[in-house]
Amino acid sequence: MLLANTDNRYKIIEKNMKKLGYERSSLIEILHNTQEIFGYLDKNTLRFVAKRLKLPLSKVYGVATFYNFFRLTPKGKHTTIICTGTACYVKGADDILKLFEKRFSIKSGETTSDDLLSILTARCVGSCSLAPLIVIDNNTIGNITLDEVKMEMDELIK
Ligand code: FES
Repeated sequence: MLLANTDNRYKIIEKNMKKLGYERSSLIEILHNTQEIFGYLDKNTLRFVAKRLKLPLSKVYGVATFYNFFRLTPKGKHTTIICTGTACYVKGADDILKLFEKRFSIKSGETTSDDLLSILTARCVGSCSLAPLIVIDNNTIGNITLDEVKMEMDELIK
């Protein structure tokens, strides 16, 4: 198991914004992309997007709260994001996702009835050399094995 030191997800968002020419009119697309990567849009990511697009935070926040397909918080006390991008998929992301879904009896995008855990998926979080990887409460755990996944799940319910 390897903990990643840097959060490459911001680099991916930056790259996508650059591709879109930092166009303010691309805000919704950028927020979509950001949510796909982070699983939800928290204050830090909204602030990051606002700053890079040179938009007031209130505007970005307003758009994110207006559309119901944007999630501003994961509902659960803990959040697990399972990367299902190509590199992670090839290295067993699907099995990891199934383990989580089976253990907690919920599907990706759902939260346990006791609000303990939300399971989310993301399309590549930018650390493919660490595939397969999961992000638990903002800690990226790379090269994770199924046994290690089970240990992490045990930790979550302690
Ligand atoms: S596919 Fe998982 S980090 Fe890139």
